[in-house]
Amino acid sequence: MLTTIACIGQHVGEEVKLGCWVYNKRSSGKIQFLQLRDGSGFIQGVVVKAEVSEKTWEQASQLTQESSLYITGVVRADERSPSGYELTVTGIEIIQITHDYPISLKEHGVDFLMDHRHLWLRSPRQRAVMAIRSEIIRAVNEFFQENGFYKVDPPILTPTSAEGTTNLFHTKYFDEDAYLSQSGQLYMEAAAMALGRVYSFGPTFRAEKSKTRRHLIEFWMIEPEMAFVDHEENLRIQENFVTHIVQSVLKNCQSELKVLGRDTSKLEQVCTPFPRITYDDAIRLLQEKGHEIKWGDDFGAPDETAIAEHYDKPVFITKYPTEIKAFYMKPDPERPEVVLCADLIAPEGYGEIIGGSQRIDDPKLLEQRFQEHQLSEEAYKWYMDLRTYGTVPHSGFGLGLERTVAWICGLDHVRETIPFPRMLYRLYP
Ligand code: 4AD
Ligand code: MG
Repeated sequence: MLTTIACIGQHVGEEVKLGCWVYNKRSSGKIQFLQLRDGSGFIQGVVVKAEVSEKTWEQASQLTQESSLYITGVVRADERSPSGYELTVTGIEIIQITHDYPISLKEHGVDFLMDHRHLWLRSPRQRAVMAIRSEIIRAVNEFFQENGFYKVDPPILTPTSAEGTTNLFHTKYFDEDAYLSQSGQLYMEAAAMALGRVYSFGPTFRAEKSKTRRHLIEFWMIEPEMAFVDHEENLRIQENFVTHIVQSVLKNCQSELKVLGRDTSKLEQVCTPFPRITYDDAIRLLQEKGHEIKWGDDFGAPDETAIAEHYDKPVFITKYPTEIKAFYMKPDPERPEVVLCADLIAPEGYGEIIGGSQRIDDPKLLEQRFQEHQLSEEAYKWYMDLRTYGTVPHSGFGLGLERTVAWICGLDHVRETIPFPRMLYRLYP
């Protein structure tokens, strides 16, 4: 039976067998050092000429970068090695000798690596990012399942838009027009009226012609929606949620964070409550810093970074002008020119990771918004029904998975946060 590098610590002193690839190799004439990887981790295999058969020594000599093999060896604890263990090789069974692996261990340009994304994923750094992404996904599901939420899956093919019409992906649905989902929110509101507290976790699509380090065309969003939850409670749930994710990664991904060289002291500061600043105060702060911005403008990435610089933790910017936010957001009863919403801005310049709000529950006001935003009442009739039949106060939010991965891993571009990024002008591989 095969074991894995991740579990090898349970077999110190025993002979084990691994299925693996050669990541790197060096030789000193009488000893060959094989850097092996099996997906679960990396380990050094030591082949000593005097201790193995001639055949095994020959096989080891043939191995090249990314050759695939089964290897047997005795596990030794070794404090000097990064994994804590080493394998004294006793036997080799070659599956394939690889020739001309395109990604050498020297530096390559980003375009070259992106063209070879299917192979680039094997590198220690990319493996670490994918392992942390997986841990974040696990922690997301754990948080909601432990807090009484049901997972609901909204459709991906939709007849209308949820977040404005400018960046919709159009497709044909037989004779009808259809769009790839920008957000499952409107459907999640229907689900919240059926199940109380729900969350979705799925791909979303935005044909955004912006080539920035924070935008993907296809990204994954986590969208909770909660009946009888107001703006205040919405923010409390968000800060508990984000803190749970960060703490889970700190607890379970120390070796991956080390591979990435992430300064974890910054992540360790993430605990509830998160600071809050109103949109009004944020505008004033930016004006004092000399940014060209006035009340009514939306924030650009440099504005968000300047605000985030004031805090060690993620910061909520609350109550944006009604005019620049989505049609479904509930106005502040005391100041209808702003809405009961918040964007959560990650520290260290990673930008907005959450957008959320309390939703309009008054059927009359929603109808008025449909008119102001020139939305077809027929197309949104089902959504109106949610206000006609037992409307209640409710709130929700959307967390962008890739931006969260970028922040927690300390990556300066979202292209490394998803296995196969879809970006402006990149659809391969
Ligand atoms: O702020 P957004 O547009 O909010 C919504 O879609 C709401 N309907 C969510 C809700 O209340 N249920 O998007 C939410 C988050 C952003 O904060 C950001 O993290 C991420 O989705 N996001 C993107 N991530 C990568 N690439 C893009 N093009 C993104 N657009 C949004
Ligand atoms: Mg937003």
